[in-house]
Amino acid sequence: MAKRILLTGGCGYIGSHTAVALLESGWDVVIVDNLSNSDKSVKGRIEAITGKKVKFVKGDSTSRKTMEKVFKKYAPIYAVIHFAGYKAVGESVTKPLEYYSNNLESAIETINAAINNNVMNFIFSSSATVYGDDNISPFKEDAKLSSLHPYGETKLMIEKILSDISKANPKFRSVLLRYFNPVGAHESGLIGENPNGRPNNLMPYMTRVATGKLDVLTVFGSDYDTKDGTCIRDFIHVMDIAEGHVAALERIETLPENPCAINLGRGEGVSVKELLDTFNKITGGKCKAVYGERRKGDIAVSYASAEKAKLLLSWSAKRTVYDMCESAYNFEKIHSHQ
Ligand code: NAD
Ligand code: UFG
Repeated sequence: MAKRILLTGGCGYIGSHTAVALLESGWDVVIVDNLSNSDKSVKGRIEAITGKKVKFVKGDSTSRKTMEKVFKKYAPIYAVIHFAGYKAVGESVTKPLEYYSNNLESAIETINAAINNNVMNFIFSSSATVYGDDNISPFKEDAKLSSLHPYGETKLMIEKILSDISKANPKFRSVLLRYFNPVGAHESGLIGENPNGRPNNLMPYMTRVATGKLDVLTVFGSDYDTKDGTCIRDFIHVMDIAEGHVAALERIETLPENPCAINLGRGEGVSVKELLDTFNKITGGKCKAVYGERRKGDIAVSYASAEKAKLLLSWSAKRTVYDMCESAYNFEKIHSHQ
């Protein structure tokens, strides 16, 4: 029988792609999502892509009662992948309490209910943001960690909570997957990144300019000390990220550290201008751009050391920058007509 995985926040951008990758690798999927940043239609889209059924509970992972019910109803659950949380860096500065409350409570209550129900495998969505601003890329997992905003603090705190739990109870195993810059969409165009309102992140901004929903992209800063003056990031296709979760699940019981922090990045820096140029090759120049001031809080260069993932998970990203841009544009075009 297929082993069952619980995805909190599984209707969101990364969770939905991970659900597809899991189902395609033979796992069974249960999603708990309060739909605060996603849509119920995602469940049907995951099912349409995979031809498999998904169990869905509309519920809040900050509620112990809800989580206890889910673990009991869908037992036995082999592992949890915890995506649920808020993720906008800027908003976390203006609404810190919302971020601490939602992100910490959802992690604590989900872990609590998992342990109560003897579910001892846990994968956490961490972020490259935990490397702060005083490391030099490529970032290795054992680098000094720090954070620049409440969102980053929540990631650091949850990593620490998981570390303390593993010390107290070594049977509880956790993996901290530190995502770099996930972009792109599933090749079907049925699921992708669809932020509410004006996007903060680069790729959804580009796709909305290219489809006429926004006028022009402002590239934040052209005077960084980089090859072309724009920031460097480790953009990685969301399906590669999704497959990284499958690889982590397959090996969670034999990893040499607990918790085990692993970067999910390509290990290659790509500049904002390079991404934009590739995108515009695909769209025929539809993303009009101007160069503006630097954005406060941005670091010049951020990319991963991808060695640990290769060594421990036998995983590395396969898809190219071209694939990322093409799939993101395709999703936006299909989505615009729905
Ligand atoms: P997303 O907002 O698309 O998905 C998060 C999902 O969680 C949404 O469907 C939302 O409705 C749900 N949710 C939020 N709070 C909830 C709660 N209390 N109970 C139940 N459901 C809840 O975000 P994403 O891009 O898919 O990110 C998933 C995770 O990965 C987040 O923890 C995020 O911090 C982390 N992450 C994302 C990125 C990125 O660039 N997208 C980078 C690093 C880390
Ligand atoms: N950028 C622009 N114009 C825009 C939006 C972004 O030029 O309209 C630039 C940014 O200045 C940055 C690059 O594109 O140089 C990438 O910016 P994103 O906002 O897409 O991504 P970040 O690297 O700032 O942040 C992402 C996630 C965070 C996470 C961080 C960790 O959004 O959640 O990576 O490194 F914390």
